[in-house]
Order: sequence, then structure tokens, then C-alpha cells
Amino acid sequence: MTKDDSNKEIIFSDNTPETNFEPSEKLEFNFLRPKSFSDYIGQNKIIESLSIAVEASRKRDESLDHVLFYGPPGLGKTTLSYIISNQIESNFIHTSGPALEKPADAVGLLSNLSSKDVLFIDEIHRIPKTVEEYLYSAMEDFRVDFITGSGAFAKTINLRLESFTLVGSTTRPGLLSSPLRDRFGLSYHLDYYDENDLKDIILRSSRLLDLKIDENSSIEIAKRSRGTPRIANRLLRRVRDYVEVKNIKKINTKVINDSLEIEGVDNLGLDRLDREYLRIIAANYEGGPVGIDAISASLNEDQATLSDVVEPFLLKIGFIIRTSQGRKITKLAYKHLGI
Ligand SMILES: Nc1ncnc2c1ncn2[C@@H]1O[C@H](COP(=O)(O)OP(=O)(O)O)[C@@H](O)[C@H]1O
Ligand SMILES: [Mg+2]
Repeated sequence: MTKDDSNKEIIFSDNTPETNFEPSEKLEFNFLRPKSFSDYIGQNKIIESLSIAVEASRKRDESLDHVLFYGPPGLGKTTLSYIISNQIESNFIHTSGPALEKPADAVGLLSNLSSKDVLFIDEIHRIPKTVEEYLYSAMEDFRVDFITGSGAFAKTINLRLESFTLVGSTTRPGLLSSPLRDRFGLSYHLDYYDENDLKDIILRSSRLLDLKIDENSSIEIAKRSRGTPRIANRLLRRVRDYVEVKNIKKINTKVINDSLEIEGVDNLGLDRLDREYLRIIAANYEGGPVGIDAISASLNEDQATLSDVVEPFLLKIGFIIRTSQGRKITKLAYKHLGI
């Protein structure tokens, strides 16, 4: 069903911010990234719903409804968007909210789309308001109206668009305006993966990387992956580097611990920033409650990184709680830190 990749167009319409990519990911766009629904591991409910929607649109020979993916970074939002365009055999046009600076950027992109194309907008919550307004009619009626000239020479131009599919991705669904959110017919929340799915992802990636690893060792890496496929793949690459350099023949738990310790990753998968975050709250704020701006200032770390990357996982494993006065760390976190 999937069109041969060689004649499929992936168009990067901008320099997508590297924050959302592992440096190796763009190069490996066709490598570790699953290409079809059957290749994709986990998130079963989403896959079931999406494949029905895709199949129905194919049968009716219509474009797929607009899709929104939201959830923490590294869980497969970009991958799913790419899979959609593969399954409907359309072009994949990749842009991002911050890259669409001016209405003209958006109008230019929209007017070049062919029928059923997937226009992927990463970090869609960062799209400027003035640009967002053009998306409303584009999404709803496949048309944009814009004004050229000014005063007596002002002229409204109505531009018809092909019936494309907009796929948006965001780590911050709360920042989307409701008119925009309402225009997505399909909306999916990606949640952290369980150990078993991560293990399967690691086994799949090791096959592709031509690395020998058994099920037990895969589980050990899965446990340290913070529920996140991107991290699982990154840790796997670090283990691969380690065994290659040290000329180790068989990967076991000790090898995994030794190699990941160098990376600052502990047995729960927490990295230096996670532990620093917890330590600051424990040491400087008596365990909290403390506001995120204070933590961010003490750590000298961007607030968005803390709230998008660090906190969701610590909340998920019960290491912090959120109260109206701010963040507090729990007994579990104290125990893990050994305080
Ligand atoms: N369900 C999955 N099965 C296998 N690999 C996955 C899966 N989800 C994500 N990945 C891998 O994790 C990496 C990060 O996924 P990506 O789609 O870029 O995350 P996001 O866009 O949510 O930040 C990808 O390179 C891909 O190889
Ligand atoms: Mg992404």
C-alpha cells in the first residue's frame, strides 16, 4: 500500500528548530523512523482510530480530516504525521509554527499544496496570531482571502486551495486558541510508552542498527528511557558506541549501567537535569512548594524545557506533585536522591 519512498517527496520548508530533533534524526528520516502503521509500536488506540480514518478517506477518495497530535517530545508525533502521508501516498511538507513568520509565508505554502498533501506544522502553538487567522478558512473551506494594496487601491483576492490535510503537532495544547483547536477533526494525545513497548522499539532499532542485544538487556534500556522512544533510541546508540569502543562481545546489565553512567543516566532513566531539578527543590526550597520561575532561575534553565520535558515525567513517576502554590517533591524522590 505504501508508495515507494524513492518517488515520495519530503519537503523541509524551513530550518526546523533542532530542539525537536536528535541531530541524527533528520539524517535518519528514512531509517529508524517507522514508515507504516504496522511498523509503529504502541499507542494502539491511536493507530486503530487513525487507520480507520485513513482507510475511509481513501475509499471515498477524499482528503483526510485535519489531525492534531499533542504530548511530550519524543513520543512519535512527527513519525505518525509522516506515516499518515505515507499511507495516503501524498507529499509531506514539513514546516513549523515559528517558521511561518508572516501571512505571506503561510499563503505561499498553502497555495502550492496539491490535493491530499499533508502539511505538517510542528510546534503549531508557536504560530503567530496574524498567520493563524489565515489557517481558519484554509482548513475549513480550502480558501484564503487576503488584501493587497491599501486605501483606494486595496483589493481582496480570494484564493482557492486544493483539499489538503493539515497535521499539527504540539507539546502545549493548552496554548492553542479554541478556533484553531476546533478545526481539527481528529485529535490525539500521545502518552508515555510502557516498558514492553519500549523494549520492542529497542529490539526493532537494534535490528536496523545491526546490533546484537537480547530481550533482557533491551528491557534494561527500556527502564531507563523515561517512557520515550527518542530517548530509547539515543541510549541504544550510546550503548552501541560503548561496546564498539571497548570491544565488548555481549551486552548485559552491567555493560548498560557502565555505558549509561557516563551519560549521567541513572537506573530510573533520570538525567543530570532531572536530578538537579529535584535537588534544587530539596536543598533551596525545603521540598517546596515553589513556583517554576524560581526553579528555572535557580537552575539557570529555560522554563519551557522544565515544563515540557522535565516535569511531565517526574509527575508521571510520582516524584513531584503540582499544587496551587507550586511544585513539591515527594518521599519517593527523596528516597531516590538518597536524602
Ligand atoms: N511508536 C514508535 N515505534 C518506533 N519508533 C518510534 C515510535 N515513536 C517514535 N519513535 C522513534 O522516536 C523518535 C522520535 O519520534 P518523533 O516522532 O520525532 O517524536 P515527536 O515528534 O513526538 O517529538 C523517532 O526518530 C522514531 O524513530
Ligand atoms: Mg516532532
